[in-house]
Amino acid sequence: MKLVHVVGTRPNFVKMAPVIAALRAADPDGRHVLVHTGQHYDRMMSGIFLEQLGVPEPDHMLGVGSGSHAAQLGGVLEAIAPVLTAEEPDLVIVPGDVNSTLAAALACAHLRIPLAHVEAGLRSFDRTMPEEVNRVLTDQVSDLLFTHSPEAAINLAAEGVPGERVHLVGNTMIDSLVALEDRFRGIGACSAHGLEAGSYLLVTLHRPALVDGPLLGAAIDALAAVSESMPVVFPVHPRTRAALGERAGRLPEGLMLTDPVGYLDFLSLEADARAALTDSGGIQEETTYLGVPCFTLRDNTERPITIEHGTNHLLGLDPERIAEVPGLVAAAGRGPVDPPPLWDGRAAERLAAVVTGIHAT
Ligand code: UD1
Ligand code: UDP
Repeated sequence: MKLVHVVGTRPNFVKMAPVIAALRAADPDGRHVLVHTGQHYDRMMSGIFLEQLGVPEPDHMLGVGSGSHAAQLGGVLEAIAPVLTAEEPDLVIVPGDVNSTLAAALACAHLRIPLAHVEAGLRSFDRTMPEEVNRVLTDQVSDLLFTHSPEAAINLAAEGVPGERVHLVGNTMIDSLVALEDRFRGIGACSAHGLEAGSYLLVTLHRPALVDGPLLGAAIDALAAVSESMPVVFPVHPRTRAALGERAGRLPEGLMLTDPVGYLDFLSLEADARAALTDSGGIQEETTYLGVPCFTLRDNTERPITIEHGTNHLLGLDPERIAEVPGLVAAAGRGPVDPPPLWDGRAAERLAAVVTGIHAT
């Protein structure tokens, strides 16, 4: 088989590393080509993930970089089409819901190359988010749809996707976490901030609806107030850093803003947190696996399984609700809970079995 794997952003590396490894193991004589679109490019948003997750050097670096949605979609589409034409793969595999994902998917549709989508069928039903549009359209042009929770198949059926294309394999992002569990459990990254495990709130915020407007200032004020009773560690996404500007320099001692941290350090901070406050998709899932209470500063989630599981709580897109977090944290349980079915570290293995099985017939 000749497979092309497409990555481009921080969460993509985490979702695809186990898929690439499992397909290489299942088809050692095949050719496995890695394309990095370059949507994320800072070392702490890209290179460190490839290293820590043991992903081989990309074969093609498209270098698309930052820009408007139009520039990113157009840039990836234009750059990836000749690569796919030259490589002539049997299958292209794309993860998640970022602009790089949709652009690669459209290129496959135009070139009539079979496409597989990892993390298919998630829906927030909120088309004001570019990710929702990217998900719906990528699923429409995919030949193989790999899902991680049962509601995805219902969402896909409602959009007319034939059931035989859909395969429930589990959560490949959790595969990465499980594979590195022995390593990150021993790090104790919180001690670098003078903190003890179980004592602090871990925060990440990067959605445009929150950080590209006035809500970000209100969120920082609310976090400053929370930090008087509970230390706050906030690794800041570059989008958020740009939006914060000079505000980031005038903060109380208990509100610790840092640059984005590498994957192992982040998992350590996450596993040892008393709770997390986030608008990230991946962090809603990882806290579910880790049994850490998660408060999601959004009006909706495409990951309802994390709510049903009991770890994730939707606060709404309302920074004022951050004031409630210390009380909610005190009331929330913490500790081992069984993860959702198939969030067990073996999703990529099941995915590879489907791909190789179909190719063999
Ligand atoms: C993108 C995804 C989002 C995902 C997030 C993961 C889309 C539409 N959005 O959002 O779904 O949750 O990645 O982190 O695809 N920047 C840097 N260095 C980098 C990368 C970005 O400085 O390595 C800055 C640039 O100023 C850039 C901004 O961050 O304009 C936003 O980057 P972009 O990739 O456009 O969107 P994200 O907010 O990262
Ligand atoms: N992450 C990380 N360092 C950070 C913030 C996040 O390693 O400073 C990891 C996190 O463990 C998860 C992924 O990045 O695996 C989530 O990415 P992000 O929140 O950027 O994107 P989303 O999941 O919202 O698309």
